[in-house]
Amino acid sequence: MHTKLSVNINKIALLRNSRGSNIPDVLQFAKDAIRYGAEGITIHPREDERHIKRVDAFELGAFLPTDVCEYNIEGYPSAEFIKMVCKIKPTQVTLVPDLPDALTSSEGWDTIQQEHFLKDILHELKSHDLRVALFMETDFKKLEMAKQIGADRIEFYTGQYAEDFADNKERAIKPFESAALFCSEIGIGVNAGHDLNLDNLKFFKQHVPNLLEVSIGHALVRDCLYLGLENVIPMYKRLLND
Ligand code: PXP
Repeated sequence: MHTKLSVNINKIALLRNSRGSNIPDVLQFAKDAIRYGAEGITIHPREDERHIKRVDAFELGAFLPTDVCEYNIEGYPSAEFIKMVCKIKPTQVTLVPDLPDALTSSEGWDTIQQEHFLKDILHELKSHDLRVALFMETDFKKLEMAKQIGADRIEFYTGQYAEDFADNKERAIKPFESAALFCSEIGIGVNAGHDLNLDNLKFFKQHVPNLLEVSIGHALVRDCLYLGLENVIPMYKRLLND
């Protein structure tokens, strides 16, 4: 099963916003990520616009070649968010339960407690022909409810996997392996994201069946900085002294 890599570009927008200019250019970064092989671009616009701004979400929507690259918008389903994604019509909307001021997403939906809230939202998004994923942990009953209320996919919150991986990778992967098998049985697609990186990704992929997509941001940007550093320092030095 081919698993798509969707690159989360929030951090690029954060860097741009810190300087008040358009450097680095978020659209250009998305374009280059696709050129180098990214199969998706993910954004997680937040209400305070501290990284991706509303205007970025719309510009990416107009600009991304969604025939070759998926556009995934994540976020808490506020009325404003729903209105925005229904206008943009990305390839996928991933709903996360974190409140607007959360530093980052740190848990999945309790689909049983939130059944009615989510069912209405899913109904509305599906009526706009949107593919919808719910950010989830590995509880079978909650996964089953995700399917019942109409989600197309779930995205596993992999923060706990990443945390446990260093201690005991077999133990870390177990709940995800069996929950992914369960998802296949009930016919709901599986994505994953959060704290995946060059150390823990391969093991995750090897053990989680039918993994459709991973979205990766923080570690991928860290790796771009580190792997780029070796090239960039000599480039500046050559300008000074060659
Ligand atoms: N999935 C969701 C729902 C997220 O909120 C994030 C972080 O924005 C990610 C995936 C990607 O996590 P990371 O930046 O740790 O790769």
